[in-house]
Amino acid sequence: MGGAPIPDVGGWFRTATNAVALPSSPSWGPGTGGFGRRSHDDDLAAAADLFRGRPTMVLTGAGMSTGSGLPDYRGRDAVPRCPMTYQEFVGSDLSRRRYWARSTVGWRWFAGARPNAAHHALADLGALTPLTGVVTQNVDGLHQAAGSRPVLDLHGALDRVICLDCRDLVDRHRMQEQLLALNPRFAGRLDELAVESRTAPDGDAEVDRTEDFAYPDCPRCGGMLKPDVVFFGENADRAVVERAMSLLDQAAALLVLGSSLSVMSGLRFVRRAAQRGIDVLIVNDGATRGDELATLRLHGRLEDVLSRWAEELRHG
Ligand SMILES: NC(=O)c1ccc[n+]([C@@H]2O[C@H](COP(=O)([O-])OP(=O)(O)OC[C@H]3O[C@@H](n4cnc5c(N)ncnc54)[C@H](O)[C@@H]3O)[C@@H](O)[C@H]2O)c1
Ligand SMILES: [Zn+2]
Repeated sequence: MGGAPIPDVGGWFRTATNAVALPSSPSWGPGTGGFGRRSHDDDLAAAADLFRGRPTMVLTGAGMSTGSGLPDYRGRDAVPRCPMTYQEFVGSDLSRRRYWARSTVGWRWFAGARPNAAHHALADLGALTPLTGVVTQNVDGLHQAAGSRPVLDLHGALDRVICLDCRDLVDRHRMQEQLLALNPRFAGRLDELAVESRTAPDGDAEVDRTEDFAYPDCPRCGGMLKPDVVFFGENADRAVVERAMSLLDQAAALLVLGSSLSVMSGLRFVRRAAQRGIDVLIVNDGATRGDELATLRLHGRLEDVLSRWAEELRHG
């Protein structure tokens, strides 16, 4: 499988690994070199034949939402970050003060994010070819906002907060109002802190001095509230994973969009697909951990690739 890495000429490259019939083209296939810009549209059109008219599951990652202004973790512009683990969050009151303070600032811009051209084009694709579902590792709700159906949030959603004791859900917008009311000094400086936390070179922004930051408990039972997302050190919900696996089992192709696949909960879909002979097509702006299992790989920006595919399926 695989072969020597192909030079990334003109912004796209692709590797055909498994035995899949690819259109014969002088510029197609590993090792042929000379992939000029002029072949891009042909390449994309040919790649679309892997899923056109075939039941396809889509697995997405943070790369879908960089065009909406939400940074990814491992893309070329990503800044090294060290997300709080589940154990840290539940294990210390100081950690929770720090988490909620940063979250109060972060929510200011996260809540304003809107679907970008990639989300819209994927929703359009859903009407043009049979997608069994969109399984996303993102927690931003942007696929639903763009109109994709069905969408499974593999890692939860940031617009909900859950009580770890009674499992009641609290709306994150409502929680924001409470956080601001409990921390008026902080509330008055929110915009300033937002800028500072994004630009401070060493990350040592005022928002990190949070020992006094107050956060609410569950309004129903007084239990501990946590964003309803899967933290590092925590497992994805079993029922959601099972539903996602059944969407994969109904599919003839798996389309992976904008994920480095460095998290096992995403990679395992690619592994299962490869085991079952389901074609794997990866579109990403950089290497992924699933590359060698891919039937086909496109290197490019999702906003462009998905828009062109939607156009291709509409008119092609
Ligand atoms: N928007 C969100 O909800 C969000 C954002 C950051 C992280 N996360 C969480 O962190 C984890 C990160 O894993 P991941 O694999 O999803 O993300 P990742 O950051 O590990 O990988 C994203 C990949 O997308 C590529 N990429 C970025 N912008 C792109 C674009 N416009 N077109 C094509 N490719 C692009 C990057 O090169 C990178 O390889 C996930 O579990 C997710 O829950 C979520
Ligand atoms: Zn409760």
